[in-house]
Amino acid sequence: MKIAILGAGYVGLVSGACFADFGHTVHCVDKDEAKIRALQTGHNPIFEPGLDTLVESNLKQGRLTFGLDLTSAVADADAVFIAVGTPSRRGDGFADLSYIYAAARDIAKVISKYTVIVTKSTVPVGTGDEVERLIREARPDADFSVASNPEFLREGAAISDFKRPDRIVIGVDDDRASAILAEIYRPLYLNRAPILTTSRRTAELTKYAANAFLAMKITFINEIADLCEKVGANVQEVARGIGLDNRIGSKFLHAGPGYGGSCFPKDTLALVKTAQDSGAPVRLIETVVAVNEQRKRAMARKVVAACGGSVRGKTVAVLGLTFKPNTDDMRESPALAIITGLQDAGAVVKAFDPEGMQVARPLLPDVAFASDAYDCAKGADALVIVTEWDAFRALDFAALKAAMATPILVDLRNVYPPEYVRASGFSYESVGRPTP
Ligand SMILES: NC(=O)c1ccc[n+]([C@@H]2O[C@H](COP(=O)([O-])OP(=O)(O)OC[C@H]3O[C@@H](n4cnc5c(N)ncnc54)[C@H](O)[C@@H]3O)[C@@H](O)[C@H]2O)c1
Repeated sequence: MKIAILGAGYVGLVSGACFADFGHTVHCVDKDEAKIRALQTGHNPIFEPGLDTLVESNLKQGRLTFGLDLTSAVADADAVFIAVGTPSRRGDGFADLSYIYAAARDIAKVISKYTVIVTKSTVPVGTGDEVERLIREARPDADFSVASNPEFLREGAAISDFKRPDRIVIGVDDDRASAILAEIYRPLYLNRAPILTTSRRTAELTKYAANAFLAMKITFINEIADLCEKVGANVQEVARGIGLDNRIGSKFLHAGPGYGGSCFPKDTLALVKTAQDSGAPVRLIETVVAVNEQRKRAMARKVVAACGGSVRGKTVAVLGLTFKPNTDDMRESPALAIITGLQDAGAVVKAFDPEGMQVARPLLPDVAFASDAYDCAKGADALVIVTEWDAFRALDFAALKAAMATPILVDLRNVYPPEYVRASGFSYESVGRPTP
């Protein structure tokens, strides 16, 4: 199959590289010139484990190409995937669909034979209808279908998620489009990945329902963690106790500083808005959004409390800036709110992240960046683990204690057993676990 992808970001690039690896011919188009130039010359603009090799080998074999102009790519394609961003619209929290509609208008100008236009971006229910209307209006003569194929990959595990997905959701309202998408995903049928074919609107909503449910699960365990702290219970044991129940499942039950990232915050908000507009408000998710928003700054207060009630003039060292490990994505990372909260309380903040510092620097102009965890800890009055990178899972506590001004560790990811850290001479706070 010949595939064009609009948007060479986390989703477009991973999808493009994986489709090419399946044997399809893929051309990725992006408006960002620097990104395309980098990709054309073998430089990957994002950090995603395994992606460099995959892009490089498919570039070499000529199955994967990059460009700024969509004309030839789209004119030739059996399917055009739209993988542009759908951020929160400033001011009201609805999904900003301007990039989607601009892409649809661009596609309309150049389609020349039957083409399936597939929205892979996360878009509110009914967006496919509008994409279809826009293209039909611009090109009444065009032969095309519009399908929805929401993406469920996780950054940090994107390639294995794409190649071995729990399921593929395809929303189509006609057989021609269905046949082309079936051919594109045929290599995955062989792996027996369940393919769920639904109406276009159902597929669009399924993506939001999935993300809202996961965000709710995280928020649930975070509130249980707060309760554990008040009543002297252990949230990790509670999570295990409920997670072993198959009806609940153990994933997404790790208490922490609140969810962030490029998807959950904007998608929960967009679902709330769609539901309100549709006259069927999702109150559970409205609460999830509010609880999570307050939680990030509450984590800064937790650090202040661990430092004896004030951080004014003190140095706080932060380990981990990205919203989760194995990515360089800083979008809506809890670290941003936590660091601002600490600075507002008068702290001087130092930070280290294995992959996120380049992206983080312009977002955190008043933070001093360190070269590793020990450099970060040097002279600090408290150390805070915000993101659970592997590099922070086996820290040398003797070296840290020697480097720090005061041995205080606030572990917002519950990486360490409390007794172990305290035995190393640290004062230790974590999330939802009792202090003996
Ligand atoms: N990042 C994830 O983990 C993830 C997972 C599942 C779904 N999604 C969804 O996928 C979509 C894309 O997310 P992302 O993280 O890849 O975004 P991104 O910001 O990394 O990439 C989007 C890219 O689209 C480009 N672009 C914008 N308008 C364009 C146009 N008209 N033509 C060509 N390129 C254009 C931008 O320059 C950018 O490079 C979003 O809707 C997101 O919600 C993301």
